[in-house]
Amino acid sequence: MPNYRLLAISGSLRKDSINTHLVNAFIANAPEGTTIEMLDWSETPIFNQDDEASFPAYVTALKEKISAADGVIVVTPEYNRSVPGALKNMLDWTSRPWSQSAWKDKPVYTAGATGGAVGTALAQDDVKKFMHFNSALIMGQPEFYMTGAPAKFDEAGTLIDEETKKHIVSGLTAFAAFIEKVS
Ligand SMILES: Cc1cc2nc3c(=O)[nH]c(=O)nc-3n(C[C@H](O)[C@H](O)[C@H](O)COP(=O)(O)O)c2cc1C
Repeated sequence: MPNYRLLAISGSLRKDSINTHLVNAFIANAPEGTTIEMLDWSETPIFNQDDEASFPAYVTALKEKISAADGVIVVTPEYNRSVPGALKNMLDWTSRPWSQSAWKDKPVYTAGATGGAVGTALAQDDVKKFMHFNSALIMGQPEFYMTGAPAKFDEAGTLIDEETKKHIVSGLTAFAAFIEKVS
């Protein structure tokens, strides 16, 4: 299997975010041949279609990072059974201008962490809806829904749950195989 350079997005900007901890766990448990960089999108401006005329350099840089990656992992919290507004705002920016979306033909794997019982399933569905419209290549299965997440990390935010570590390795192995198949 070829080596793959992946980009991971945490959908939360919160300092002690369980989703950012999960991204760090993906980075720490990546199988050999897979490297993962976390995207910093914290300075994304609020989208206003008027601003497309003077397209922000910050967003162009985000789009270039997405374009350069072999695949992208989107790790999203669930807010009110959907995607956090800040994440959707960033995704919207990177889909613009029309017909120049950074997501076209990009292999995408979604995951998410919550203390709740639904495991971010509905938020991930909304990410997939966005990706589908943007002609991304979405890995349907295996899925990654992390419930009871706060108890699965220590105080420093390190993943301590062995089952989740196994799930990360099998998910990333499947994603590498998916990328190889669709590339
Ligand atoms: C506005 C808001 C809405 C939320 N709605 C949901 C929800 O629909 N489903 C869920 O599982 N958790 C929900 N939560 C709880 C989040 O899962 C929890 O705050 C989680 O820690 C957020 O992810 P983060 O730690 O990565 O920031 C909500 C939290 C906020 C702030």
